[in-house]
Amino acid sequence: MDKFVINGGVPLRGEIATSGSKNSALPALAAALLTEEPVTLHRIPRVRDIRTMQRLLVDIGAKVDVEGESVQLTTPRIVCPEAPYELVKTMRASSLVLGPLVARSGRARVSLPGGCAIGARPINLHIFGLEQLGARIRQSHGYIEAEAPDGLRGAVVHFDRITVTGTEDLMMAAVLAKGETVLRNAAREPEVADLAGLLIKMGAKIEGAGTSTIRIQGVTELGGAAHTIIPDRIEAGTFAIAGAITGGDLTVNGCVPDHIGALLAKLQQVGVEVTQPQSNAVRVRAAGRLRSVDMTTEEYPGFATDLQAQYMALMTQAEGIAIIIETIFENRFMHAQELARMGANIRLDGKQAIVAGPRELTGAGVIASDLRASASLVLAALVARGETVIDRVYHIDRGYEKIEAKLAQVGAKIRRVE
Ligand code: EPZ
Repeated sequence: MDKFVINGGVPLRGEIATSGSKNSALPALAAALLTEEPVTLHRIPRVRDIRTMQRLLVDIGAKVDVEGESVQLTTPRIVCPEAPYELVKTMRASSLVLGPLVARSGRARVSLPGGCAIGARPINLHIFGLEQLGARIRQSHGYIEAEAPDGLRGAVVHFDRITVTGTEDLMMAAVLAKGETVLRNAAREPEVADLAGLLIKMGAKIEGAGTSTIRIQGVTELGGAAHTIIPDRIEAGTFAIAGAITGGDLTVNGCVPDHIGALLAKLQQVGVEVTQPQSNAVRVRAAGRLRSVDMTTEEYPGFATDLQAQYMALMTQAEGIAIIIETIFENRFMHAQELARMGANIRLDGKQAIVAGPRELTGAGVIASDLRASASLVLAALVARGETVIDRVYHIDRGYEKIEAKLAQVGAKIRRVE
C-alpha cells in the first residue's frame, strides 16, 4: 500500500492545474449506456474511481477506448445489466448504471451499497424515483432488481431530500421514458447540469438542469455525441485551501471560479486575498494571520461537504474558534481525530466540530479514512513541522489525479513511497 511522506512548512507558490471533474465524469460514462452509438468524453480525470467505472461498463457490454484524457465508449448491446457487489462496495457511484440500464434494456440488477466511511448513504431515493417511472423493483440477496419490460413512463418525482447521484440516475432513466418527467427538489450541482449538457447533445430533451425543477420529455432513442467534462471544483477548492494554509501565493488554473463561490467567499472572510486573474483561474494569497470563520455544509450553491475536511484543516491555523456543521453526511468527521494527532484542537459534538486555533501542527503518522479526509491530512501535513507519513493513500487516488506531482511542482515536499 502506498504512503505519502510530506515535510511541511513550505509556502506553495506558482500555478497549479485542475483536472476534469470525477463526479461529473462518472455519470457521463454511465450515460454512454443509453445509446449504441459512440460517446466520446474529453477531460476525463485519470483517477481510480474512473477506472473502476470503466471496468463495470466493459462487463455490462461497452467497448471502452482510452487515449490520454479522452475516452470513447460504444455499447452495441447490453450484455449483462448488472453492477456486482465486488464493484459497488468499492465505489458507490456504480449505482449510476441503474437508471441507464432500466431505460435501455428494461432491466437492471445492482448491488445495494452497504455501509460507508462517511455515513449510511442509502439509494432509496433512486429506487423510489424509478418506481414512479413505472419500474417494478424487488430486493433480494443484497441486490436491487428493477424491471420495466414495456419501458418507463414519465411521471412527477418529488425527492424527499436532495440527492446528487439520485437526480442524475433519474434524469438518465427519464430521457428514454414515454412522455414527460418532472424532477422536483432536484440537486442543482454543476455536475447535474454537465450531465444534462451531454444528454442533450445525445438527443435528449431536458430543461431546467441546474435548478431544482428539471423537465424531461422522453425520446425514443439517443445517439452518439462528444462532450468535454467540467473542471473538478473540489480539486480546485482543495488547491485554493493549500495555497491559503501554507501562507502561499497559488494560482489555480483551468477551474470555474463560480463553482467554488461559497469557498472563495469564506476564504476572503478568513483573511485570504482572492482574485481572478482570468475567467478560469483563481489566485489565493495568504500573507497575514488567518481568522476563524464558522461554516455549515449545504447542497450547491452552499459550501460543499466535499470541502469540509479540507476547510477544517485550514481552521486549525486560524485565530479563534470555528464551528463547522456537517449537514449532508452523519459521519464525516473521521479526519478530526487524525488532525488531533498532529496537534489540532478539535472537539466533536454530533454534527458539529469545534476547532480552536491557531495550533502548531507537528508531523505524525496518520491514516487516510476516505477521499476528502485524506486531502485534509495532506493539507495539514503541508503546514506541519517535520515529517508526516499518510498511510492508505489509495483513498486519495480515487479522486485526485497525481496530487503529489501537482503539489510538488508548486514547492511542496511530498513524495509517494510504496
Ligand atoms: C455525491 O454523492 C457525490 N458523489 C459525493 O462525492 C458528495 O459528497 C455528495 O454527492 C454530496 O454532495 C458523486 O457525485 C459520485 P447524495 P451522492 O445522494 O450522490 C442521503 C466525493 O468525495 N440520501 O447527494 O451519493 C445521503 O445519505 C463524494 O467525491 C438518501 O437518504 O450523495 C446523504 O445524506 C463522496 N437516500 C444525502 O442524501 C438516497 O437515496 C446526500 O447524498 C440518496 C441519498
